[in-house]
Amino acid sequence: MCGIVGYIGKREAAPILLSGLKRLEYRGYDSAGMVIVNGSLQLMKDKGRIEDVDSAHGLRDMKGKMGIAHTRWATHGEPSTENAHPHVDCTGDIAIVHNGIIENYNTLKELLESEGHEMKSGTDSEILAHLIEKFYCDDLAAAVRKSLLQVQGTYGIAVVHRKESKIVVARNGSPLIVGVKGDEMFTASDASAILEHTKKMIYLDDKEMGILEKGKVTIKNLRDEKVNKCHEEIGWDLEQIEKGGYKHFMLKEIFEQPDSLKNTMRGRLGKNVKLSINGSVENCRRVILVACGTSWHSALIGRYLIEGIAKVPTEVDYASEFRYRDPLVSKDDLVVFISQSGETADTLAALKEAKKRGAKTLGIVNVVGSTIAREAEMGIYTHAGPEIGVASTKAFTSQLVALVLLAMDLKVKKGGKIDEKLARELNRIPEKIDAVLEEERKVKAIARKVAGHPNFLYLGRGINYPVALEGALKLKEISYIHAEGYPAAEMKHGPIALIDENMPVVFIANRGRGYEKIISNMEEVKARQGKIIAIATEGDEEIKRLADWVIHVPRTIDDLTPLINVIPLQLLAYYVADMKCYDVDKPRNLAKSVTVE
Ligand code: M6R
Repeated sequence: MCGIVGYIGKREAAPILLSGLKRLEYRGYDSAGMVIVNGSLQLMKDKGRIEDVDSAHGLRDMKGKMGIAHTRWATHGEPSTENAHPHVDCTGDIAIVHNGIIENYNTLKELLESEGHEMKSGTDSEILAHLIEKFYCDDLAAAVRKSLLQVQGTYGIAVVHRKESKIVVARNGSPLIVGVKGDEMFTASDASAILEHTKKMIYLDDKEMGILEKGKVTIKNLRDEKVNKCHEEIGWDLEQIEKGGYKHFMLKEIFEQPDSLKNTMRGRLGKNVKLSINGSVENCRRVILVACGTSWHSALIGRYLIEGIAKVPTEVDYASEFRYRDPLVSKDDLVVFISQSGETADTLAALKEAKKRGAKTLGIVNVVGSTIAREAEMGIYTHAGPEIGVASTKAFTSQLVALVLLAMDLKVKKGGKIDEKLARELNRIPEKIDAVLEEERKVKAIARKVAGHPNFLYLGRGINYPVALEGALKLKEISYIHAEGYPAAEMKHGPIALIDENMPVVFIANRGRGYEKIISNMEEVKARQGKIIAIATEGDEEIKRLADWVIHVPRTIDDLTPLINVIPLQLLAYYVADMKCYDVDKPRNLAKSVTVE
């Protein structure tokens, strides 16, 4: 949560910071601000989105060749001008931007106030500016280092001082990278903010600092020792992070899925599955899949896949529950962490916990070079490309493909044979998704009919029960409609009480395993005048007898149906939200990457 960007070089800083901030808006968007150093500190900040803060205060007109900026997702203190970053110290010489949570901020605040410092905001972040002021003695980097030794919690920070031509950055638990382009130095929470300027990135590790000067960057640890780090070249290009003619990133990302899935499979699926997973995973007795949100829904599907294909007992846990419940894991377990961003705080903490307990760890991650990707012993990058829309779409389907590949690989490693039919069918999934995307107009028409309802129910069975959960999550997070996902058979144990003519029920009803049962559930809803939207297999015309609306999808084998069924559910959520004129890519109260607990 929160986005940081910084620049020092030969160009005007404000336009660079502004365009970086816009690309980071997905990380939080309740207030924004910027400080430019030009002999003095020029500071502008306010509540609201970057565009509004810029038009109200002319951020782009601030003059100077060095500065830092921030877009906020509130944790401590409501969105307001005072709580927006940057924060300054009492002298007005030091400015900081911060992403993360200072856990011992109450203690530090009391101490600083007793020493005469005056806080102006209700944030935990502001104490950093005052702490640095306390230690400042003509050397910003030294003061930042001394301050960070007092801090407990997570931080990605960038700091400037009126009298020094440098930006000091540091990280612990919140992402921060440094970008290099000749004499120009950049910093950002994520590469997308500075990709238009450079592809050369230095990834800071926890408890490392960077001192950015014109033409020079020095990396140190908190013991003040130099750390030798080379830059890495990032593979994404600018086009991938632009909207490319689509109204929203979410719609673009839905339509990218045939390609993103090809990228997830590329080079990995031939006569054999080729994943670079070593670490003797064939000896694992149990797999535990750990994740949050949409990635947790992938994990639920992963359980069906790994147990069904590789025959390895598999459990699924929310990362937030796993990390706090004293999990019984050991070296015999393979614990798999699934994350689009690779920065989700709970997933990262769960990964550290599993490592501490001696388990084998594997990350299924989209963002290359992210913390989870680097912390896990083994990894499968999903290669879905940058996902900007806050609602996850293409990352989800790529995670599913990665899980199918993992299940196939585990089976082979444990002495089984590759399932050629599954491999062939997986290769055909992108073209089948193309066919589903052709149903876009039909889904849009259904969205128009149902957008006015305040509640929805999503029902699926077996491997498609998590797809029902995912369909409901997509609808609620971007259209603010209350939606619940359930295993279809559970309906009669409670949710059936909700069914009447005002309750649209989305059924995932492919022909195959469990089809007859789901038809019975549809009968039960029909008998109570519920409105039915059915996702059904092509050629299934009978289902029209029960369903008010049917979206046909191509036939595939049961294990792969989630990949196809989720597409119309993503489109349905998208069109309902768009019809309500909501900001689909930046839904209220949400942020793309949840780097706080
Ligand atoms: O980056 P991650 O996959 O770790 O993120 C996990 C969740 O925060 C994320 O999936 C969230 O639920 C999305 N908004 C869902 O669309």
